[in-house]
Amino acid sequence: MLIAPTASGSIKVYIDMVREAKIEDAQAIQNLIFFYSEDGKMLFRSLAEIEERISDFLVYEKQNEIIGICSLKFGWDKLVEIRSLGVDPRFHRQGIATQMIQGSVERALLRDDCDTAFVLTYAVPLFTKFGFEIVDKMQLPQKVWNDCQACLHKDNCDETAMSLSLLPLKKMPSTTPTDLKDSEEFLYS
Ligand SMILES: CC(C)(COP(=O)(O)OP(=O)(O)OC[C@H]1O[C@@H](n2cnc3c(N)ncnc32)[C@H](O)[C@@H]1OP(=O)(O)O)[C@@H](O)C(=O)NCCC(=O)NCCS
Repeated sequence: MLIAPTASGSIKVYIDMVREAKIEDAQAIQNLIFFYSEDGKMLFRSLAEIEERISDFLVYEKQNEIIGICSLKFGWDKLVEIRSLGVDPRFHRQGIATQMIQGSVERALLRDDCDTAFVLTYAVPLFTKFGFEIVDKMQLPQKVWNDCQACLHKDNCDETAMSLSLLPLKKMPSTTPTDLKDSEEFLYS
């Protein structure tokens, strides 16, 4: 939290947090996606696409600025994909992505239509600490690969597929997102 005086003498309080994206965040989200899509770390998404799917996104807001993004794609059978995870390079290695993944898992746990989270990633250790395990890419449903057609690396994909079963987390008695935040040793085992 940062407390800053304004020109008018009032005080502005900034709270750094992971939150659901709002339509006003779409341009900032697109800027980060564009930045990372240039070298193929992320799939390009147009502003219109992002605006249409804004409810899929979580953002990390720091002092009124969007410095982290992540989205969840439901609808792959009972799978949910964590995608478009990116953090402004000025803020790498400060635990921002960790908080975004935690928020995403908590969000997925609230849904009845998914039992497994998966990700295609270049940052295996980031997901390992949540209990994600490496899986054979070929185990993912064929329709996942439709999105890959737009990827710069589609013919030599060097991402690692990882998945996490949500069922044990869903079975935790009276699990709520807050409980999960408090039980880091379970998610981070
Ligand atoms: C990958 C990325 C999202 C990580 O964001 P971050 O906020 O720096 O990550 P965190 O600070 O939460 O990292 C926590 C741990 O994850 C691991 N980790 C983080 N980035 C990593 C990377 N690029 N490669 C391998 N492991 C990584 C480390 O173990 C790190 O702990 P440490 O800092 O104590 O060593 C960020 O580097 C990024 O935006 N990269 C470009 C976009 C991209 O590749 N997206 C795909 C990711 S699925």
